[in-house]
Amino acid sequence: MEVIKILTAEELYGILNQPDDDGSFVLDLEAAREERAEETLRKNWMVVNVAPSSDLRVVVGSGGSKNNVGWVHTEEDELNLLKRSDWERIFTPNSISAILAEHVWEHLTYEEGIEAAKTCYDFLKPGGYVRCAVPDGFFRNEWYQNLVKIGGPGPADHPAAGHKIVHTYRTLQSMFEEAGFQVRLLEYCDEDGEFHYNDWDENDGFIYRSKRFDHRNQNGELEFVSLIIDAIKPEEWCPSCRGD
Ligand SMILES: C[S@@+](CC[C@H](N)C(=O)[O-])C[C@H]1O[C@@H](n2cnc3c(N)ncnc32)[C@H](O)[C@@H]1O
Repeated sequence: MEVIKILTAEELYGILNQPDDDGSFVLDLEAAREERAEETLRKNWMVVNVAPSSDLRVVVGSGGSKNNVGWVHTEEDELNLLKRSDWERIFTPNSISAILAEHVWEHLTYEEGIEAAKTCYDFLKPGGYVRCAVPDGFFRNEWYQNLVKIGGPGPADHPAAGHKIVHTYRTLQSMFEEAGFQVRLLEYCDEDGEFHYNDWDENDGFIYRSKRFDHRNQNGELEFVSLIIDAIKPEEWCPSCRGD
């Protein structure tokens, strides 16, 4: 990647919003953060020139976490899943290899979740994927379910206060399928509360709240799980797969 320069938002819009934009410019927030204070970054962005074939991987709603080295970590106020204009301003359609969202989609209603999934679909390359982790409504643990329930456990300033849905593997799968994705279940509980694990590579997107990495899961005892999926954009467009 070659760094072009740090631009204001207006200059940036001028570059990325040209009709002949070939997608060779992307933002590198990671690099920009190394050079600029967070406050300055709200007005200034670093633009890098990348080969169209390069591997652009984006974390949405990262909440300050930097768990995925080499990925572009973004926050809700710069890249909102429900603001398509944010995506159009920053990315070119079909340009992103992978999108990761850990405990973000439960802050959207089911319908908003489909809308967000459709936006991700449009900006992913064919064969690209969303690795999505949310609280699991089928995990049989009273403390956990009280924590993750709609509206959260009580305090208005609790991180879970904005929960709008408690997904199960069925709702999360159907939500992404409605947006045209093929879904692979990585970690989930079934209707009987039984936990299922299908091996996944953390190098393709690290999820902390998971069987292997959450510090609360010790000696084979699961204290905190997530429902984790890969939602894969098919290599070929399937007109009947998405109803829009
Ligand atoms: C519980 S925090 C999780 C933060 C982080 N991903 C983690 O694993 O610790 C939920 C995050 O979702 C983000 N979020 C909520 N709604 C969002 C939206 N519409 N678009 C992007 N991010 C959103 C919030 O800003 C917040 O950072």
